[in-house]
Amino acid sequence: MTIEMWNRRAMVFGLGAAAASPALAQLLPEQTPRPQLDVPYVPTPQEVVERMLGMAQVTAKDFVMDLGCGDGRMLVTAATRYGARGFGVDLNPQRIREATENAKAAQVSDKVRFEVKNLFDTSIRDADVLTMYLLPSVNLQLRPRILDEMKPGSRIVSHAFDMGDWEPDQRDMIDYSRIWFWFVPAKVAGAWTLTDGGERVELAVEQSFQKITGAARAGAAAGRIEGRLKGVDVEFTLDLAGRQKKYAGRVAGNAVTPAAGSGWTLARV
Ligand SMILES: C[S@@+](CC[C@H](N)C(=O)[O-])C[C@H]1O[C@@H](n2cnc3c(N)ncnc32)[C@H](O)[C@@H]1O
Repeated sequence: MTIEMWNRRAMVFGLGAAAASPALAQLLPEQTPRPQLDVPYVPTPQEVVERMLGMAQVTAKDFVMDLGCGDGRMLVTAATRYGARGFGVDLNPQRIREATENAKAAQVSDKVRFEVKNLFDTSIRDADVLTMYLLPSVNLQLRPRILDEMKPGSRIVSHAFDMGDWEPDQRDMIDYSRIWFWFVPAKVAGAWTLTDGGERVELAVEQSFQKITGAARAGAAAGRIEGRLKGVDVEFTLDLAGRQKKYAGRVAGNAVTPAAGSGWTLARV
């Protein structure tokens, strides 16, 4: 969906239209304080909600957060369908009233909570899954916080808009609705030592979101690595002295544990 299509959709819903049209805004009762929204209200169609939660593989173990939760449909569905817990914030008190009522009607008030709060002031540290239907500029503002605050391996799913040059790990489309999905990658940039079969290889790893590249050196031999992260799972190919070998493991703090068996170790210098 393009921004233009999104704007047309937004005009169908009251606040978006009011925010976009000063003439219409004047028709609202004076006593109604209008929150200064960063994104107008446009609810995600239910089939898109379900596809988003399916892509994020939500389970009963997950704590799901929806930033700008609207009428709460994302979290109410996550709770009713998967038993997940949830927390949603929205700047518009009317949306929070609707979300709270919807949770009550679906009998999931013990699992989901909604609060009138600015999404920019909301901690996302504890979320296992973050859902968003915002705007490209808002996604980009949130991106550094997502990468720095959220646990490696937590999942992000966004309706309609991407996150700039952070490529998605998966994408999907229903009718005109695009869905973007990412794992928060572990941070692996820096110096590592790989030992494999008596050989010691020094790696200088560079990271751009989930992609990794870098220089490899074993004695006089120089080479490269190239690979990617899927949360805490890492795969890379070492190309050294004309030989290529694939490695797969899991990042755990300052070490990578081999995915299958052993035979090699990888630790931060
Ligand atoms: C496009 S709607 C998405 C609603 C819901 N997440 C969904 O997918 O159905 C964006 C929502 O963000 C809310 N919003 C806009 N700016 C906000 C802000 N700074 N903090 C919290 N909520 C905000 C709006 O009130 C609106 O309900």
